[in-house]
Amino acid sequence: MFDSPETLAEALAGEDYVIDPEFAVVVHLATALERPLLLEGPAGVGKTELAKSLAAAGGRRLVRLQCYEGLDDGRALYEWDYGKQLMHVQMLRDRIGELLSGTTTMAQASARLRAEDTGLYTEDFLLPRPLLEALLSPEPVVLLVDEVDRTEESMEALLLEVLAEGQVTVPEIGTFTARSTPWVVLTSNDTRELSPALKRRCLHYQVAFPTPERETEIVSRRAPAVATDVVADVVELARRLRELPLRKSPSISEVIDASRAAAVLGLESAGESEKVRSTLLAALLKYGSDRELAIARLDGDGGAAVEVAEDSGWVRRSSRPADTTSGAFGKGRAASTGGSAGARDRARRGLR
Ligand SMILES: Nc1ncnc2c1ncn2[C@@H]1O[C@H](COP(=O)(O)OP(=O)(O)OP(=O)(O)O)[C@@H](O)[C@H]1O
Ligand SMILES: [Mg+2]
Repeated sequence: MFDSPETLAEALAGEDYVIDPEFAVVVHLATALERPLLLEGPAGVGKTELAKSLAAAGGRRLVRLQCYEGLDDGRALYEWDYGKQLMHVQMLRDRIGELLSGTTTMAQASARLRAEDTGLYTEDFLLPRPLLEALLSPEPVVLLVDEVDRTEESMEALLLEVLAEGQVTVPEIGTFTARSTPWVVLTSNDTRELSPALKRRCLHYQVAFPTPERETEIVSRRAPAVATDVVADVVELARRLRELPLRKSPSISEVIDASRAAAVLGLESAGESEKVRSTLLAALLKYGSDRELAIARLDGDGGAAVEVAEDSGWVRRSSRPADTTSGAFGKGRAASTGGSAGARDRARRGLR
């Protein structure tokens, strides 16, 4: 399908997914060898998005199994369509009346019905859930098993069976073997260790936060209306924040949100650096304690904090005109007057 990792990377770029060359090699291998690909890493680094973009780039349908605690076979594999079965029985009622005529006890009636094939347990009455749907699809699909670490280990065993054997047994019907081979992508947030047996069957890749250059490219693709230098400033802020011991580091999607917010804010409010900062932090951080820590460090109250602020891009970047988003954010001095007016102008340019 994809001749090389480079072809794959280009196809993904066509779907606005920016992939590291090393990551592209692993994804390419997974597609070429048709091996499941297990992606682990922090929230919001593009694990789920990879599966979606891969499906779009490969012209395949995406079949998604969202995992959660308590996920069972009925949601993952198949269920019987009771409503349809009931309708079928009602249509058979007259015929069943004839069939049961002459029986006097329930036991007799039940025995006679059992001997008869009412056709209720056939593929027609099966509701395939994502795992079976992926195997039964005549056209190969991309099967995304998202957040597999949220399920219990029993679900892993079922997954293993499906992935390893490429088949599913339905007791009433028999065994279905795969009609096509899906590309399987499993994602995990590392909330628990996955079983070695599952890992053994997969190619594994640890997805990490991108370099600032790559993140700027990602955000510019996803929020093309925002001026590149606004994006670069927000990416730099996110990079600094990720170095702090936060409960939750800003994810790429939050950087995208913050960049959009910076652009909008630049348009709507002049010279309010506090507002710029407050909005960016609201988009990037989701815990009060993280916010307090970030403000303390970035404002530079106290020796260590000043150090963080001083060697950060915010201060370094202040050699650029003070009227940038980073200027607005970095320790008041370069920033406090008219800081976001410049951001506003740049944002306006970018939004055109
Ligand atoms: N490499 C990338 N190229 C383009 N966009 C990306 C990339 N990585 C992340 N994104 C953007 O970040 C958003 C979040 O990514 P995604 O939902 O895939 O994260 P995740 O790793 O699955 O996180 P979680 O573990 O919280 O589910 C995507 O919707 C997309 O807009
Ligand atoms: Mg995800």
